[in-house]
Amino acid sequence: MDKNEDIKVRVDHLTKYFGSLHVLDDVSFNIKKGEFLCVVGPTGCGKTTFLNLLTRIYMPTQGELYIDGEPADPKKHSISVVFQEPSSMPWLTVEKNLRFGLEIKKLPKDEIDRRVEKIMDLMGLQEFRNSYPHQLSVSTAQRIIIGRAFAMQPDLLLMDEPYGQMDIKMRYYLEDEVIRLWKEMGTTVVFITHNIEEATYLAERVLILTNKPAKIKEEVHIDMPHPRDVTAPDFIEIRNHITDQIKWW
Ligand SMILES: Nc1ncnc2c1ncn2[C@@H]1O[C@H](COP(=O)(O)OP(=O)(O)OP(=O)(O)O)[C@@H](O)[C@H]1O
Ligand SMILES: [Mg+2]
Repeated sequence: MDKNEDIKVRVDHLTKYFGSLHVLDDVSFNIKKGEFLCVVGPTGCGKTTFLNLLTRIYMPTQGELYIDGEPADPKKHSISVVFQEPSSMPWLTVEKNLRFGLEIKKLPKDEIDRRVEKIMDLMGLQEFRNSYPHQLSVSTAQRIIIGRAFAMQPDLLLMDEPYGQMDIKMRYYLEDEVIRLWKEMGTTVVFITHNIEEATYLAERVLILTNKPAKIKEEVHIDMPHPRDVTAPDFIEIRNHITDQIKWW
């Protein structure tokens, strides 16, 4: 149906109810191939639900989500998810955590070696190769999870408030990391956050949702090169504009 080959994800009249709770209300939008999209919105408006619909943890009540023009199917489409909670495997070393998903996919050993080394270099994890997650700081442990997601070379990377627990300095650092990996890998990224500065710092486009039942309130295109200067007047103007669009409570 999709004539446009540039579209990675098409969200088509998506509605979700949990029982009588109306969460998503007839939401339609596209995500372009290779785009970095941030989704912001009030707490409980349905951001995580949207990701869970893309990965088919839940099914839509009405409407559909298409990936590459076909109904989303985690078995067919290559999707990685980074959750907010630390989710590395504590009984595996850093290297084995990175290898794990690739071995499940039964990739050839030399391909796994190549990808794991590249990600360890990119994420600065070489010195932690033989460490276990509990021996690392929270932010380093989160780098394993992000590295693992990128090592899968997903077509679509879904990140649900991945830096929510981190202090601002570490967040800046990891925001730059995710931009670097995104540029290197050409992945399509959907990054959920309720941090408006973070969205303004990262996104090519920010989707602002309303309170639930959520609709799209506004789309903001941000045409500024990375890394962005958070003190630049046009950065502050966009950030303030997005803030104005969101009623938090
Ligand atoms: N499995 C479920 N069953 C019933 N209600 C649910 C379920 N999952 C989510 N909800 C409800 O749906 C609404 C949206 O939840 P969701 O987790 O998607 O919000 P969110 O935008 O991710 O919020 P936050 O910013 O706090 O992470 C909430 O009211 C939540 O309680
Ligand atoms: Mg959530």
